[in-house]
Amino acid sequence: MRNPFGFLEEIASYGDVVQYRTVLGTFTALLHPDHVERVLLQEPNRFQQVDVADFDMGIDPEGLVDVRGEQWRRQRTVMQPAFTMERIQSYADAMVEVTEDTAGEWTGGETIRLDEAFSELALRILTRSLFDLDVESDDADVIARTARVLNEQLAVGNPSVLLPSWVPTPSNRRFKRTYGEFVDRVDAMIADRRESPDIGDDLLSILLHAQTDEGATLSETEVRDNMLTFLFAGHETTSLGLTYTVLLLAQHDDELERVRAEHREVIGDDDPGFEHVPRLTHTERVIDEALRLYPPIPTLFREPMEPAAFDGYRVDSGSILTLPQFTIHRDARFWADPMAFDPDRWREERSDDRPEYAYFPFGGGPRHCIGMRFARLEMRLVLAALLRQFDFELVSDPDLEFDPGMTLRPADPVRVRIDER
Ligand code: HEM
Repeated sequence: MRNPFGFLEEIASYGDVVQYRTVLGTFTALLHPDHVERVLLQEPNRFQQVDVADFDMGIDPEGLVDVRGEQWRRQRTVMQPAFTMERIQSYADAMVEVTEDTAGEWTGGETIRLDEAFSELALRILTRSLFDLDVESDDADVIARTARVLNEQLAVGNPSVLLPSWVPTPSNRRFKRTYGEFVDRVDAMIADRRESPDIGDDLLSILLHAQTDEGATLSETEVRDNMLTFLFAGHETTSLGLTYTVLLLAQHDDELERVRAEHREVIGDDDPGFEHVPRLTHTERVIDEALRLYPPIPTLFREPMEPAAFDGYRVDSGSILTLPQFTIHRDARFWADPMAFDPDRWREERSDDRPEYAYFPFGGGPRHCIGMRFARLEMRLVLAALLRQFDFELVSDPDLEFDPGMTLRPADPVRVRIDER
């Protein structure tokens, strides 16, 4: 538990199907892209999301990440239209505006914690896009606090994770109190929007009014739980993606210069906007490469609904499958010189003979990340808005270690000195 990534790397030397036991049960790691493709894409009904009710967290959310079966299918169908490119386009201006505001608070010459700064920025962007709230408002403050305690609550190092949620540990109590406040605020916002005749552009309004062709909608609880789900699923992940991208660029001057040259050519002196994004192809390769080396979600888990076999090895229902992006993204069988930061490996002519599921930072199959376009748009726009204004010099240890947990968080603060250009 202390070093899950070193552990996964070690067991990969045993083969592509490796069983191991922990206090949480029996796990089977699948370390070949063909197995990942089978689980996520070919047989998603046979290998389902692990049931969160198995892990008592004190909430039993009915959000998209956690629900299964028919409820998942209905929710996904209702929500999909909120995440098309046309819809997401309307968030682009807010993404740039919030980034400019954040940059306005930075002073050249100061040292900042990049991981914290991006976490705050990604949260502000989500708060605007999902709830149409200004950062200064009380509601936004409650949202920021909820995101913070939820992060703490889910961190593996937190002893409360191993205790039932009714045990009144300080963190369980803090979580319950803050979550209760969050629920009250969101319920009040839902009531407000229900009364208002206009349908706003934010996700909350869209979810409240969304329905499938057959007329299926979301219940009030589902809307509220999804707001929490999106807040968590969309903020820590994107902020880690940005942190690692800027960290890599800060250590590779030649790549940074290529990205800036592309920005100059495509965006010039304009404000970055949605219309520029399709032409930011090298920036996109840089992001792809950062998400390869540092996938914000480092491992996926699935539960076999019935016994199955991989390469002739049996896995039982009730055990858990581990699909580690972190390890497969660095496997020398699929990646030449895997530890090198080499965005050009994403050029078409160099991508041909790689198995599709050698790379799955956003998962795959029907349950792939619904926020992928949102996140990719956000990362490109934030980079465009920041790199033109600032140089980033890494001043903390370049050898990263990671916290064990659901997301790939750096164990130590990532500090950079920022200088105005
Ligand atoms: C770089 C940023 C992001 C990364 C790396 C990422 C990664 C992932 C991955 C790997 C999954 C699949 C989980 C599984 O199969 O068990 C997923 C699902 C999901 N993501 Fe993201 N995500 C990102 C950003 C976002 C954003 C911005 C949002 C929302 C605005 C979001 C919302 C979701 C939701 C709701 C699901 C569940 C989808 C379903 O089960 O149908 N994600 N994400």
